[in-house]
Amino acid sequence: MMNPISKTAYYTLGVRAWDAALPSPICSDSFAKIFMNDDAQKVWKEFKDQSRPNMSNAARHAIIDNQLRSVFSEAPDSRVVIIGAGFDTRAYRIKGGKWIELDEPSIIEYKEAKLPTLKCPNALTRIPIEFSKESLIEKLQPYASQEVTHIIIEGVLMYLTHGERQKLVSGLQELFPRQIVYCDLMRKSFFERYSKELYEKIRSLGASFKDLVEQPEDIFLGNSYTMLGCTSVPLYAVQHGKDGLASFIIRYFLKTLREGYRICRFEYIKSND
Ligand SMILES: C[S@@+](CC[C@H](N)C(=O)[O-])C[C@H]1O[C@@H](n2cnc3c(N)ncnc32)[C@H](O)[C@@H]1O
Repeated sequence: MMNPISKTAYYTLGVRAWDAALPSPICSDSFAKIFMNDDAQKVWKEFKDQSRPNMSNAARHAIIDNQLRSVFSEAPDSRVVIIGAGFDTRAYRIKGGKWIELDEPSIIEYKEAKLPTLKCPNALTRIPIEFSKESLIEKLQPYASQEVTHIIIEGVLMYLTHGERQKLVSGLQELFPRQIVYCDLMRKSFFERYSKELYEKIRSLGASFKDLVEQPEDIFLGNSYTMLGCTSVPLYAVQHGKDGLASFIIRYFLKTLREGYRICRFEYIKSND
């Protein structure tokens, strides 16, 4: 039985394949189409009419792409760990980085068949993990490091309970005493006002959001992280989707939309006392 959250990886994949084929893509993941088999097409068919959420989904990926490019322009050998990587193809697309991807065995196996680790232009390690049975922290133990580690948690936190988020964050802190986390954070008010229709489709895949709160950043701020900055996903989507009117309205009026779904970066440096 596939982890139901894993099916949502076919949705975000479908978005990026669709986006890349647009005349002016937001994210331009030209590798996404390689994974678009019958299962992926079937999931995408259910979601493809969700144009605003789909644009946001491509935007959230593009925002993190840009942030990583800027990291590599200063430090090309930076280490990146992607938790719940799904069909993330950044290791193939972005110049630089030493990459570690973790996800369910079925996803890793399919990725390996289509875009093998050995052919990746950057250093890449893929780690299969059954999230419901195996310990993420034990899997990552061999890669524990003092090196600054960039950790991507994209499209994952909303599916975890508060306890699971806490366990994840504490474990990552043990392994990586110097780290920067990049994640999408959704406020409860945003979910209630803007996400219900999309959520019905996510539910039909068997996945569900857990413990949504108004201040999702607190899981990091309450665990000694410092917030480095946040970018509005819907605003980035309309700006880069060249929708001038929507961009004006979101920028100046729709605060719940603008601030309700963001890509945020948090830094953690373990103190010595
Ligand atoms: C919505 S997808 C996001 C995939 C990818 N990060 C992206 O943005 O396209 C959610 C991913 O989380 C993975 N996942 C499932 N359970 C998880 C868990 N307990 N912790 C972390 N990731 C999990 C799934 O296998 C799936 O690939």
